[in-house]
Amino acid sequence: MAKKLGQIAIYGKGGIGKSTTTSNISAALSDMGFRVMQFGCDPKADSTNTLRGGADIPTVLDLLRERGDVDAHEAIFRGYNGIACVEAGGPAPGVGCAGRGITAAVQLLKQQNIFEELDLDYVIYDVLGDVVCGGFAVPIREGIAEHVFTVTSADFMAIYAANNLFKGIQKYSRSGGALLGGIIANSCATPFQRQIIGDFAAKTQTQVMEYIPRSITVTQSELSGRTTIEAAPDSPQAAIYRALAQRIADHAESTAPAPLESQELKAWAADWARQLIEIEKQGGGCTI
Ligand SMILES: Nc1ncnc2c1ncn2[C@@H]1O[C@H](COP(=O)(O)OP(=O)(O)O)[C@@H](O)[C@H]1O
Ligand SMILES: [Mg+2]
Repeated sequence: MAKKLGQIAIYGKGGIGKSTTTSNISAALSDMGFRVMQFGCDPKADSTNTLRGGADIPTVLDLLRERGDVDAHEAIFRGYNGIACVEAGGPAPGVGCAGRGITAAVQLLKQQNIFEELDLDYVIYDVLGDVVCGGFAVPIREGIAEHVFTVTSADFMAIYAANNLFKGIQKYSRSGGALLGGIIANSCATPFQRQIIGDFAAKTQTQVMEYIPRSITVTQSELSGRTTIEAAPDSPQAAIYRALAQRIADHAESTAPAPLESQELKAWAADWARQLIEIEKQGGGCTI
């Protein structure tokens, strides 16, 4: 029987911690013995940096721009534990569609049967999701990914972006698109941040895969060009990333989410604002 390949897309607004979290998941999955490819789909092209000592790699679009016939192997660079690292890259700023870049990059690897050749267990796409325009929806729309996870903090703009992503997933799920695995809650420092994200997950009929605290260990690791899994394997933060990777490895069934309508989302946020003001009045400000 053919081995089931896990194709996962990690979405979230810019700067929320997608690449950091994705790289730690990739590193932890590879430590568990899985063969992993991390596929950066952010035009920033820095998704795989901490898997490769902080070094940039040429992007697929750069290579395609240089010359037409690219051997896909030229775009694959081995990182920590042999993880296959690819950066799709993007169009020159202000020109063209980033989604087309993702499609071109995936097509190149598909046409040359790279996914079969490398015998991968997981391909993890790291995708910018501030706006789920048609371009950035490519991995969920075109059968590239099967399971989507979103990274969000308790900040409203991050939750707003996650809710928009859910709208996209819901829409494309009717035509065979990817489904939602759950939320990865990043930078959670206080009980209320956890409660806000947990409540949003419940309201949108999904689950929280893991609550990841903000940690100086992550900063230290990043500054040394490594994931936390590599740089601080015995730290509590690495244990949390390993627990998240294990939950992803155990994950089987994704579902269509139930995003909130714009007015519902505003009312939900206003309700949380009232609760937080109430807590502050009672002197619990420092725990918010
Ligand atoms: N849990 C965390 N603790 C501390 N710093 C974090 C954490 N998650 C992300 N960061 C930091 O936030 C910054 C942005 O993260 P990054 O993964 O590049 O975001 P994205 O890929 O979503 O744009 C990085 O400097 C990263 O080290
Ligand atoms: Mg990134």
